[in-house]
Amino acid sequence: MARRIIIDTDPGQDDAVAILLALGSRDELEVASIVAVAGNVPLALTQKNVRRVCEVAGRADIPVYAGSVRPMVRQLVTAEYVHGETGLDGSNLPEPKMALQPQHGVDHLVDILRAEPAGSITLCTLGPLTNVALALVKAPDIAPRVRELVMMGGAYFEGGNITPTAEFNIYVDPQAADIVMRSGIPITMMSLDVTHKVLSTRERVEAMRAIGNRCGVTVANMLTFSEKFDRNKYGTKGAPLHDPTVIAYLLRPELFQGRKCNLTVEISSELTMGMTVVDWWGVTRRPANVFAVNAADADGMYRLLNERLARLP
Ligand code: BDR
Ligand code: CA
Repeated sequence: MARRIIIDTDPGQDDAVAILLALGSRDELEVASIVAVAGNVPLALTQKNVRRVCEVAGRADIPVYAGSVRPMVRQLVTAEYVHGETGLDGSNLPEPKMALQPQHGVDHLVDILRAEPAGSITLCTLGPLTNVALALVKAPDIAPRVRELVMMGGAYFEGGNITPTAEFNIYVDPQAADIVMRSGIPITMMSLDVTHKVLSTRERVEAMRAIGNRCGVTVANMLTFSEKFDRNKYGTKGAPLHDPTVIAYLLRPELFQGRKCNLTVEISSELTMGMTVVDWWGVTRRPANVFAVNAADADGMYRLLNERLARLP
């Protein structure tokens, strides 16, 4: 039976690739809904971008919700300098026709987690954790009902990408991340430590284009746009491909390695705000609250991605 997932996301080209990877994996994953959050670009764009991606995949039937318009405490920080003004620059996808669900995304999370059997829903978060944290504040009873939360966020060995110590998704809403880390939900963290090991090299991007279908070509065009910033910044042959690692982990956990450890989020110091303090060596004896992933079989992940993109229109 396919595993039921909810994707919480702020597209973002790499979010879009993650959504397509999930939609191309229908035997294993059933996408119950997708909830947008403000992050890479404002919510008005991220919710629209989710619908554009569903439509290119021929999946206008997926219920799409708009969640939080801003982080819980701090001002919204966006990343147009990476993703372009629309968040999906390079994709050339048309304005969406499918409707947005009328309910607020946070209320949807509460309702669906209460309605579905406990332990049946996996949350996949690809952006700031605002929606999930607000749902937990509103309805703490949902925490033990979540099967697992697999998130893209955080960094330890790699350092930060938005500040020297913080990764973007956690930095944008550190208070939300702190609530989620303390929730007791089983969490797997795909941090920069792993996403910086799965680079979208030219050969890998062109292999997606060569699939020849519209999703493969769209992904190649999008990544060609978004990789420019990171390639210049890091001087590598390709950009890290962040959010698809979340879906790839669900599909093929054997492609990844990590360890269970304690993670605490910095929410006081402005200098290190949003830092994910990972007790990799167990020096604090604080209980493990995450499975922190730090290594991957990159070729295996790209093979999987190509195989699943090929199943889409
Ligand atoms: C994360 O931030 C966003 O720019 C990407 O979509 C990814 O979720 C990487 O730090
Ligand atoms: Ca994202």
